[in-house]
Amino acid sequence: MPPKIKIAIYPGTFDPITNGHADLIQRSSHMFDRVIVAVTENPAKKVTFPIEERLAMIRETIAEWPTVSVEAFDGLTVEFARSVGARYIVRGLRAVGDFDYELQMGMMNRQLAPEVETVFLVPAAEYIFVSSTLVKDVIRLGGSVSNFVPPPVEKRLLERLAPPEK
Ligand code: PNS
Repeated sequence: MPPKIKIAIYPGTFDPITNGHADLIQRSSHMFDRVIVAVTENPAKKVTFPIEERLAMIRETIAEWPTVSVEAFDGLTVEFARSVGARYIVRGLRAVGDFDYELQMGMMNRQLAPEVETVFLVPAAEYIFVSSTLVKDVIRLGGSVSNFVPPPVEKRLLERLAPPEK
């Protein structure tokens, strides 16, 4: 029998990918044989970047990581997991604020697909407070986000959201 490879998906909106996301992707890649970053829409969020651009920024970020890939999907996360043979869903937990929503999603996903396990990972301490929303707020107000996002993402954020120079 061929050895069973462990595949995980890391689903999210990634509008845009941050160093916190990248940190979790790297950690996941040490735990699983393959990691698929799975990009979709979250109806609760109005996005800044169209999906093609979010995918491109992730591709640029994961370029050096051979076991990581990125795909877009529609519909249920668990159905996407099944369609790619993934038995694990990776999600990040930063602070208690994340917990309620993540627990609800984890339980719902388990009801929908008991064979798919949700795995929560904690990012490096320096990224605990980083979110896509905060990064966009900082850029809009003229601050620097170079410590919080990969360089290609910073470039696109500056082009899209930075206030005009006075
Ligand atoms: O990065 P986000 O916005 O926190 O990610 C949320 C996401 C996209 C993972 C969640 O909204 C999701 O799984 N959407 C796909 C539809 C789905 O499966 N909904 C039921 C989840 S219990």
